[in-house]
Amino acid sequence: MKLQLLLISLLLQPIRGDSACKNNPLDRKWPILDNWSALNESVNGALIKANPVAATCFANSSFTSTTNCDTVQKRWFESAFQAEQPESIGYPYWANNSCVPPNDYAYRKGQQCELGGLPSYILNATTAEQIAVAAKWASSRDIRIVVKGTGHDLNGRSSGANSLSIWTKHIQNIDFNSSWPHPIANKTENVMIVGSGQNWGTALRSAASVGRTVVSGQDPTVGLGGFIGGGGHGPLSSHYGLAADQVLQATVVTTEGQILIANDAQNQDLLWAIRGGGPGLYGIVTEYVLRTYPLPENVVLGTLSMSVTKNDTREASASWTALASLCRSIPDLMDSGLTGNGFALTKDITHNVTRTSDKAVELSLMFFGYNTTASAFKSLLEPVIARMASKEQNETLSVTLSEPTVLPSYSALFEVLNPGPSRCGDISLTSSRLLGRPELTDLPEDELRTHLQNIMNVQVTGRQSRLVFGLQGGPGPRNVEKEMRGALTPAWRKAYIHLMSTGAVVDFAGDATPQDALLAAAAWTEEHKEAVWRRWAPDSGSYINEANPFNGNFQYDFYGGNYDRLPAIKEKYDPTSSLYVQSGVGSHLWHYDLNTGKLCRQS
Ligand SMILES: Cc1cc2nc3c(=O)[nH]c(=O)nc-3n(C[C@H](O)[C@H](O)[C@H](O)COP(=O)(O)OP(=O)(O)OC[C@H]3O[C@@H](n4cnc5c(N)ncnc54)[C@H](O)[C@@H]3O)c2cc1C
Ligand SMILES: *[C@@H]1O[C@H](CO)[C@@H](O)[C@H](O)[C@H]1NC(C)=O
Ligand SMILES: *[C@@H]1O[C@H](CO)[C@@H](O)[C@H](O)[C@H]1NC(C)=O
Ligand SMILES: *[C@@H]1O[C@H](CO)[C@@H](O)[C@H](O)[C@H]1NC(C)=O
Ligand SMILES: *[C@@H]1O[C@H](CO)[C@@H](O)[C@H](O)[C@H]1NC(C)=O
Ligand SMILES: *[C@@H]1O[C@H](CO)[C@@H](O)[C@H](O)[C@H]1NC(C)=O
Ligand SMILES: *[C@@H]1O[C@H](CO)[C@@H](O)[C@H](O)[C@H]1NC(C)=O
Ligand SMILES: *[C@@H]1O[C@H](CO)[C@@H](O)[C@H](O)[C@H]1NC(C)=O
Ligand SMILES: *[C@@H]1O[C@H](CO)[C@@H](O)[C@H](O)[C@H]1NC(C)=O
Ligand SMILES: *[C@@H]1O[C@H](CO)[C@@H](O)[C@H](O)[C@H]1NC(C)=O
Ligand SMILES: *[C@@H]1O[C@H](CO)[C@@H](O)[C@H](O)[C@H]1NC(C)=O
Ligand SMILES: *[C@@H]1O[C@H](CO)[C@@H](O)[C@H](O)[C@H]1NC(C)=O
Repeated sequence: MKLQLLLISLLLQPIRGDSACKNNPLDRKWPILDNWSALNESVNGALIKANPVAATCFANSSFTSTTNCDTVQKRWFESAFQAEQPESIGYPYWANNSCVPPNDYAYRKGQQCELGGLPSYILNATTAEQIAVAAKWASSRDIRIVVKGTGHDLNGRSSGANSLSIWTKHIQNIDFNSSWPHPIANKTENVMIVGSGQNWGTALRSAASVGRTVVSGQDPTVGLGGFIGGGGHGPLSSHYGLAADQVLQATVVTTEGQILIANDAQNQDLLWAIRGGGPGLYGIVTEYVLRTYPLPENVVLGTLSMSVTKNDTREASASWTALASLCRSIPDLMDSGLTGNGFALTKDITHNVTRTSDKAVELSLMFFGYNTTASAFKSLLEPVIARMASKEQNETLSVTLSEPTVLPSYSALFEVLNPGPSRCGDISLTSSRLLGRPELTDLPEDELRTHLQNIMNVQVTGRQSRLVFGLQGGPGPRNVEKEMRGALTPAWRKAYIHLMSTGAVVDFAGDATPQDALLAAAAWTEEHKEAVWRRWAPDSGSYINEANPFNGNFQYDFYGGNYDRLPAIKEKYDPTSSLYVQSGVGSHLWHYDLNTGKLCRQS
């Protein structure tokens, strides 16, 4: 491994006389305005100079925004609003909190509107050809390239200081073909051919209109590019695998300006990489050919809730035992066809509680099943609930299943799952793990209980800890044919639950710069979250799109054994390393400094 890393780093050494750092506007080499104008002409006027949308909230800003500050503040936390802006991202602290409106958590009095970690220019792309011209232009000038679909990324990977951003939102083609000829096998596939600027809301609606559906996320405002590039789980992943497992073909523009078709007949290594090998790394995907599926018929759903009713340490203890009992049951429930999601929350039952084990835990977990009936659904869950309630002390601990609802269509499920506009902008540093039978059912219940208590720790006493449950692994990922599997971490193939935990305090109120506040939270997370996961699930990994981007072992945790092949593929298709994302393949060879905006090779 060490030798391999050394060879890889030799491979990635500057080979074309490029300097140690990507270009920035203070460099002599930074293109002059005329040069940007010439680029603009060659992309039919689609080049936009970045103007932060919240500029109208600052007196004397040199930026011009056409959206007034009231509207910016009203809509700032809506994912859809952020997706409409060329430059903006949903979690602005990854862009140095540089031009946030007064109602943002991180706004500071006296703050000016700056570009900070936002791109310098944006290509409002509608065609692969435009992207090819712009990407080649930028990479040959040592200018960092970032890709923005929706800007939803939880770790800010769709922004970057001093970059040219390729904004895919307006690549909106969508079409269906029920007999798409497979490139090498003698068979046809029922597919959706879709531009990478679509989001899952529009993709699902279009598919439903032809009686089909796709493996999507559950939030309609999430986009295709980042989601698929990292894996992509949702309400159907436990049946059919992740979104990355559905890619039959993609059109990819490289930073060298080539427009490539990647499928089983050509550029197979690129296809393999973009099937879950991390977004924003190998090229800019403009179009996907994705498998479609029949619409599920009856969708049954119900919520399992657990709450503590007394301030009683015995009951608190019973709540952890009940949670462990539930976790042990989940693999069997998923193998029987159920999926779902929800969260557990700690609850202080006395004053001055420092250890998680002195707290209680409460739970709300929505299960759903397809093509089933309410009674079949109940008969799967009732024994699980009885086991949860029968442990230790069952007189007060309340464990209930809501009366199951039978929805008329798969689309109706999304209405239940998305009661309001999708929200963004909250501050947290996530840490997550994929858990399979070895970590859920094959260990003693006491041990499982202790892991659950340990992972729900918090940095500041008195804060609640949240553990998000995603029942998105199981038979789907496990049964994906070998030929459809790409670089997605193999941990998904054995996983049942994707657990996400928060607890670090990211303090943007103090004197620290955003980068330093993030690094402080990252240090705590490494010690108090990642260490717990590694003890609990040493052989597993994390879902790259919903993970701690500062994870000290990201190569293994995000990519597993697939990491070894990826640096060479990255080097082949992006030889200038123009596409950098945090904890992406090869990123440990670079240092991105949010304080200076510089992106430089590690010496
Ligand atoms: C409200 C919300 C709900 C979510 N729900 C789910 C869920 O149900 N399941 C799930 O798996 N994840 C979910 N996520 C996480 C989601 O997978 C990531 O946020 C993902 O990065 C979103 O991709 P995007 O293209 O919309 O975002 P962007 O921020 O635009 O892009 C994210 C990353 O992908 C790259 N990228 C985008 N488009 C392209 C392209 N065309 N070619 C190459 N690279 C590209 C960008 O460079 C960046 O690195 C959710 C996130 C949010 C905020
Ligand atoms: C930049 O513009 C100047 C002036 O128009 C021109 O002479 C020069 O060739 C351009 N450089 C590049 C790299 O395009
Ligand atoms: C690019 O050209 C278009 C059309 O001429 C113009 O509206 C736009 O402002 C230009 N962009 C830049 C960055 O100059
Ligand atoms: C804006 O400019 C005016 C006039 O130059 C100046 O008086 C004022 O202090 C400036 N405001 C801020 C917030 O910089
Ligand atoms: C990021 O913000 C800090 C202040 O918190 C500032 O000192 C620094 O210059 C900013 N970085 C960039 C690239 O603007
Ligand atoms: C981007 O391009 C699309 C399609 O040409 C256009 O409708 C839209 O107004 C453009 N957006 C911006 C911000 O220029
Ligand atoms: C499906 O794709 C094949 C191959 O491109 C084409 O021949 C066929 O006409 C397409 N069918 C539809 C319905 O578009
Ligand atoms: C392809 O499959 C069809 C139907 O399964 C079969 O009739 C045909 O002979 C096959 N063609 C080849 C070249 O194998
Ligand atoms: C649901 O039933 C339909 C009709 O029989 C079938 O086509 C589909 O594959 C089933 N879906 C799931 C998720 O089981
Ligand atoms: C439990 O006790 C604590 C302090 O003793 C109190 O703050 C809290 O409200 C109580 N909770 C319930 C559910 O009674
Ligand atoms: C809280 O508990 C800790 C350890 O149990 C103890 O050291 C501390 O003095 C207590 N604080 C208060 C305010 O009671
Ligand atoms: C408590 O546990 C006993 C024994 O396991 C069981 O028979 C009883 O139904 C449980 N009571 C409740 C309220 O769940």
